[in-house]
Amino acid sequence: ASGDADAGAKVFAKCKACHSIVADDDTVIERGGKIGPNLYGVYTRQAGSVEDFRYGDSIVEAGAAGLMWNEADFVSYLADPKKFLAEYLDDSKARSKMAFRLNDDEDAANVWAYLVSVGPE
Ligand code: HEM
Repeated sequence: ASGDADAGAKVFAKCKACHSIVADDDTVIERGGKIGPNLYGVYTRQAGSVEDFRYGDSIVEAGAAGLMWNEADFVSYLADPKKFLAEYLDDSKARSKMAFRLNDDEDAANVWAYLVSVGPE
């Protein structure tokens, strides 16, 4: 990853309102809200694939269509989740349950680096 994990840890404060980071063995890395899915190892997985999390239809569709999280798509998703999904699915009616936007690409790349630094290999 190109970002700065320490800087990303600070940006993650904005994500914590809705997201936790909890390892597979239940170690809590960030105790945050439950409105959004657990972000542990998000960079290893298909979009919309956390068991038991109730995603919106569009992100599940994107995952089924092949979206695996990677730095570029993550940064673009964070800038505007609904627009990203609409473009990915080529469907102007796509919706996102994540109302939050992070408009700074450098902050987003730093959060990505942070998530990689605290996640599985
Ligand atoms: C989904 C990252 C802030 C609510 C996601 C996903 C990512 C993400 C990568 C997709 C996860 C997956 O496919 O499993 C982040 C980051 C944030 C942030 C890095 C901070 C910079 C927030 C905030 C909220 C929120 C503040 C609540 C106000 C949600 C919800 C979803 C989601 C509800 C599910 C979206 C859907 O089902 O369409 N987030 N998020 N997120 N996030 Fe966030």
